[in-house]
Amino acid sequence: MKQIRLGIIGFGNVGQGLAQILRDKHREYAEKFGLDFRIVAVADSQKGCLFDPQGLNPVALLEKIARDGSLAGIPGEKKGWDALALIRESGADAIIELSYTDLKTGEPAATHVAEALQQGKHAVITNKGPVALHYSRLEALAREHNVQIGFEGTVMSGTPALRLGRELLAGAGIRRIEGIFNGTTNYILSQMDAGAGYAEALAEAQALGYAEADPSGDVEGFDAAGKVVILARLVLGREISLADVEREGITRLTAADVTEAREAGERWKLVGSLELDGERLKAAVCPRRLPLSHPLAGVNGATNAILYGTDLLGDVTLIGPGAGRLATGYAVIEDLLAIYRG
Ligand code: HSE
Repeated sequence: MKQIRLGIIGFGNVGQGLAQILRDKHREYAEKFGLDFRIVAVADSQKGCLFDPQGLNPVALLEKIARDGSLAGIPGEKKGWDALALIRESGADAIIELSYTDLKTGEPAATHVAEALQQGKHAVITNKGPVALHYSRLEALAREHNVQIGFEGTVMSGTPALRLGRELLAGAGIRRIEGIFNGTTNYILSQMDAGAGYAEALAEAQALGYAEADPSGDVEGFDAAGKVVILARLVLGREISLADVEREGITRLTAADVTEAREAGERWKLVGSLELDGERLKAAVCPRRLPLSHPLAGVNGATNAILYGTDLLGDVTLIGPGAGRLATGYAVIEDLLAIYRG
């Protein structure tokens, strides 16, 4: 049995989802893969820090958070610790960086990931900022220190959109990528299609936990554009920035537009796309009116989808969750299995 010590930075929805998965599946992973995953440390700037080299009990962490929203006062509390102290002093083998996404600077997550790699630890992130803005630098650090970075959760959470493109379709000749990469906007458009108003649908998406802390990142298309940048870099090997993505959100779509499309047998979707035209790469996020026969037209609610247009297989579409605590927590497990099963 191989023991793997995990240090978690950020204990919000995704961190709690990961703890829930390890609570429920620890034994299964041990039996099936010979891997004994233990959470040895948690650092959250609001909820507090914990450390136990033998492993913290996920049941106790989840109960404490459910009871009073904080980790303070339970055994293992490390007053005065922060994320960098966790990385340097916890003895974790892998750092799971789950702090909030900032698509302008990628911080503080990028600093945490860089520090983890420099300390010779694997890093797993679900946070788009460091991957969209600093991937080349982080990848070089990982190579230099002979460790790996896991980033599956940055696009479509645990739905393996990146692995499908990077590994399984790598030889199929990907020429085009189209997808629904933002759950909040797809939820809003689906609700509007069913007769709800924009503001009401956005409030529901926020209450359901799909929206970013600042939902303008969703409705103006920045979140989807971040994912397009990540796909360009990690699947197509093209380094582009957010400024290279032609972007329009859904705020200009009216109830009348949605009704008109419905009456014509079509649906509005916020589509992120990458298209290779010879050497030229066109990157965009914009609302498109799709016929119901289009594979993305039937993807409703907060669900996401990605379509790879390939030379050898034609179009391949993958549909699945793009957000949510268990779905994103599972993305971390996918990366950990990829690192440690080999
Ligand atoms: N706010 C994002 C969404 C979360 O709605 O899809 C996942 O990146």
